[in-house]
Amino acid sequence: MCGIVATVIIGKAFIEGRIVDNVTIEINDLGIITKISKGTFKGRFKEETFNFLKNRLLILPGAIDIHTHMRDFKESYKEDFYSGTSAAAAGGVTIVADMPNTKPKTNTLPVLEMRDKVASEKSVVDYALYYGVPNVKREIMGFERKAIGVKVYPENLFHNCREVFEELIKYVSSKNILTVFHAENPYLFKNDERPLDAEISGAVKVLELHRKYRVKAHITHVTTSYIVKLVKHKGNITIDTCPHYLLLNKEFHLKNKYFRVNPPLRSKNVQENLLKTLSLGKIDAITTDHAPHSSDEKFSEKPKPGFPGLETALPLLLTLTVKNIISLKDVVKLYSSNPAKILELHRYVGKIKEDMFANLAVVDLSEEYTVNSKTFFSKAKHSPFNGWKVRGKVKATFVRGKPVFIDGEIVSKKGYGINVKKYGGVFENVS
Ligand code: NCD
Ligand code: ZN
Repeated sequence: MCGIVATVIIGKAFIEGRIVDNVTIEINDLGIITKISKGTFKGRFKEETFNFLKNRLLILPGAIDIHTHMRDFKESYKEDFYSGTSAAAAGGVTIVADMPNTKPKTNTLPVLEMRDKVASEKSVVDYALYYGVPNVKREIMGFERKAIGVKVYPENLFHNCREVFEELIKYVSSKNILTVFHAENPYLFKNDERPLDAEISGAVKVLELHRKYRVKAHITHVTTSYIVKLVKHKGNITIDTCPHYLLLNKEFHLKNKYFRVNPPLRSKNVQENLLKTLSLGKIDAITTDHAPHSSDEKFSEKPKPGFPGLETALPLLLTLTVKNIISLKDVVKLYSSNPAKILELHRYVGKIKEDMFANLAVVDLSEEYTVNSKTFFSKAKHSPFNGWKVRGKVKATFVRGKPVFIDGEIVSKKGYGINVKKYGGVFENVS
């Protein structure tokens, strides 16, 4: 890989599954790592140099979050691509994948075009877009030019537009396009309750579809180890869970309606089993399901489900390493290299390696701090983890070799972020 060296980053880095003490990472003007050398660098660089050695900071592969809601459009009061991707950068997240339950819905080709345009004008980190199940067949073909995959909601999985849904599933299966499922069966909801059975029934339905069409399926925000076992035993399906299902339970929700989320928080027992399953390496990825709502909406009689998560996920995961529940290697796998594989971007991101993009999260593992949601970059200035003590502070985030977030500030231009669908094109420029 050639090109002019534009940036040099020096420090302790997580490379090939372990921490290497002194490395020099040379990055070209396209943001691609051209050379990694070990040992203390003694020379001088003309290029922009970032030296993280002196503060003993650790350079990790940048996090990749495959389930977020950037809102924008008519819900810009909750979040927009600028505030949402700024929250991502502050959390060490270098790529966010955005869900299509927007207003208007991202399930037609013109809306997808519009979403890509808005995202490209406002994002500070890179982004991927999901496409929603369309209402008519003519809106199926071609979405994959701009979207990384499809998101299927419970209502798509269990009732509406059967014919279009089947056509879509056949289409994605034929092209091996990622299909992310929110697995819950709405027929099993009881008033406001969404029992575990509804989620299990949803997962069974995904398995059926997987078996029938060989769809490249991913089940998101799984809350129970039962589904992990079921899915891993019966099919080649990937799964993720979120920090809130690992660290919070129904008791929180019973005390405070703020904790409402879909799927809901489960019993303490289910939560603890899920955390154990994570520590055993049975879960493919962590996502935040970053679902920002305004404070008025969250602190009301009937709060909207979900909460922001991008600024807390990596510190919470790093805190689990301090407690020896998971390893640093697990964190990188769960929140970077496996998500890269799921999105089929592993040729470009997910590792600190020559000929890959320099998407990096620089963290201070020794710094303990208290989560203060008032300081969030997200427009949603609240969090289920507000007041929690965490260890592992994000100090800097680089996307394609450029600093995006440094010492508490967003330092890149609005619109720096690109659709990951363009990654291949950037690489073609050099080869
Ligand atoms: C999601 C949101 O707010 O977009 N909320 C959530 O609790 N996960 C929507 C949803 O998945 O129901
Ligand atoms: Zn969601």
